[in-house]
Amino acid sequence: MESVIGLVNRIQKACTVLGDYGDDRSLPTLWDSLPTIVVVGGQSSGKSSVLESMVGRDFLPRGSGIVTRRPLVLQLYKTDQGQEEYAQFLHTGNKRYTDFSIVRREIKEETDRVTGKTNQISSLPINLSIYSPNVVNLTLIDLPGLTKVAVEGQPESIVREIENMVRSYVDKPNCIILAITPANQDVATSDAIKLAREVDPTGERTFGVLTKLDLMDRGTNALDVLEGRSYRLQHPWVGVVNRSQADINRNVDMLAARGREREFFATSPDYAHLASRMGSEYLAKLLSKQLEAVIKARIPGMMSLINKSIDDLEEELNHLGKPAAVDSGAQLYTILELCRAFDRIFKEHLD
Ligand code: GDP
Ligand code: NA
Ligand code: MG
Repeated sequence: MESVIGLVNRIQKACTVLGDYGDDRSLPTLWDSLPTIVVVGGQSSGKSSVLESMVGRDFLPRGSGIVTRRPLVLQLYKTDQGQEEYAQFLHTGNKRYTDFSIVRREIKEETDRVTGKTNQISSLPINLSIYSPNVVNLTLIDLPGLTKVAVEGQPESIVREIENMVRSYVDKPNCIILAITPANQDVATSDAIKLAREVDPTGERTFGVLTKLDLMDRGTNALDVLEGRSYRLQHPWVGVVNRSQADINRNVDMLAARGREREFFATSPDYAHLASRMGSEYLAKLLSKQLEAVIKARIPGMMSLINKSIDDLEEELNHLGKPAAVDSGAQLYTILELCRAFDRIFKEHLD
């Protein structure tokens, strides 16, 4: 199954590249049918932190205030053990980044390039791929936080604009929603849950993630939510503990943070009995499983789409003649090859 997810990711990336050529083909339909995971929540609820800890790498700008100001489409590719980890941006071509602090800087700078150094938001996504032996194959999208009021440098319309942008991602039936909700605020007011319930009323594609469990008032806990007595979702809530702002300032690394998160659950009088179903690592596994289930359920539908794409592509290639290097013909050809490989693997999995 790993191979199918990997291939889904590759096709998706190929389609993103092709989308840059602005041609209207049947491929966006294919792109749209592939599952992605989207992080949704209020500002500073911990969205970027959750994504980062699932990747197991420090590379996302995080912090109090409006840090994430453009969508970040993040594709994770699991590589063989012993391979060096690296990242690539779509906007910087083949350049390989092995220093993840430079990845973070590039995300910041590329955000500013489009939005300026203000609190402005842009719906133009940044595309980043990470190749690593230490990840599961996933496509994740980090989004600006939902907000209730405009702040300095933002037009009044920003509240609606952000909501519409977020909605455009979570509306898609193939999207898995990570509804990020801080445990130190009233879950009833969670923007993430409100929006998720709207676009996914049955809750089959919504995962509630409760962050900041370490910041709850003394004497209170989130057991009602985590044990499914209140704000019940189709899938059980997962509690996580990310790095605090003080940890970020002190450069506490991912490994240390994960260790501390594990210890938090294992030694907590409130949560120890739930420890095996809590934490970032468990969340990443859960999502990977969900993704596989979704892909498997979609195989028959995807196959007919792919067969249609193959037919269309072949016809288009016939028109173009033999493709030359790096023009759109070559791009088409690559995608055609991917579709064929995709088709083969799907058929194998059906047998
Ligand atoms: P985003 O705006 O939703 O992307 O949130 P960020 O991931 O940027 O986090 C916002 C702030 O909350 C940062 O200062 C984080 O350090 C802090 N934070 C996030 N999750 C947790 C958590 O589980 N515990 C603690 N103590 N702080 C957290
Ligand atoms: Na923030
Ligand atoms: Mg963020």
